Amino acid sequence: MALGNARNSLRLSLLASIGLVPLACGGNAESRAGNEAEENARTCFTGACGRPFLIEAQARVAAVTPNTAWLSSTLAQPQVAHLTAAERAALAQHWQRLGQMEHASIAAFARFSLQLLALGAPSELVEACTQALADETGHAKVCFKLASSYAGQALGPGPLDIGGSLGCVSLGDIVDLVLAEGCFGETSAALDALEAADAATDPVLREVYAKIASDEQRHAELAFRFLRWALTKDAPVVRRRIAASVVEPPSHHQAAREVTVPCLNALLGRPLGFATIARA
Ligand SMILES: [Fe+2]
Ligand SMILES: [Fe+2]
Repeated sequence: MALGNARNSLRLSLLASIGLVPLACGGNAESRAGNEAEENARTCFTGACGRPFLIEAQARVAAVTPNTAWLSSTLAQPQVAHLTAAERAALAQHWQRLGQMEHASIAAFARFSLQLLALGAPSELVEACTQALADETGHAKVCFKLASSYAGQALGPGPLDIGGSLGCVSLGDIVDLVLAEGCFGETSAALDALEAADAATDPVLREVYAKIASDEQRHAELAFRFLRWALTKDAPVVRRRIAASVVEPPSHHQAAREVTVPCLNALLGRPLGFATIARA
């Protein structure tokens, strides 16, 4: 799927998650080129692919250690025989980094589940959060399996420092976190994985990226559904936080901004830039 189409598709899906259906929108096809190692490596424009585990605005991850406990048992082996040592090392590094971030996403959802309970959120949101946590566990295991295959040794996460992670308890602060981690972070992750699935030459990697893209898209939708519910709790506070993120998005990912900002405008009842109708 061309990136322009991917953005439109994701924007449509996020709008549907908050009860709005766009009537028309446009987009430009984009292409990407590179050597094989680059094509099989997911682009990470932000340096924080996936849902980041933010503590005081810093993404926290565990160190990578020799570890056999985080290897997917179902993933097929990627193609490695034709790669040079340098390409294998680059791909090992790349998948290690993604594994660290996917592993940190588990913590982000574990914290989000506590926050949902603390706010008295409905079971639908708690269940979706629990499913997302399981998705991220699967992503981490796949990433560490790939990193290990390229590195020629079993690798996995060490202990994750969660100190200071539970200080965010007010509705407004939780909304800020969901905007950064979910609305922008997960949208970036979905778009990057879609682009990587398009470019990957190894069918094993293409399948991995496609699965991650589809899961991250659902996670972004969950963030928007949470905001819609949060607006029913305290509209002035939540509207103010959403409006601030539209003015100053907590992400430098251009494509994510192009997808997320119009959807946040829709939540605020503002024009998106293209016509919309309310879903019954
Ligand atoms: Fe993920
Ligand atoms: Fe995610």
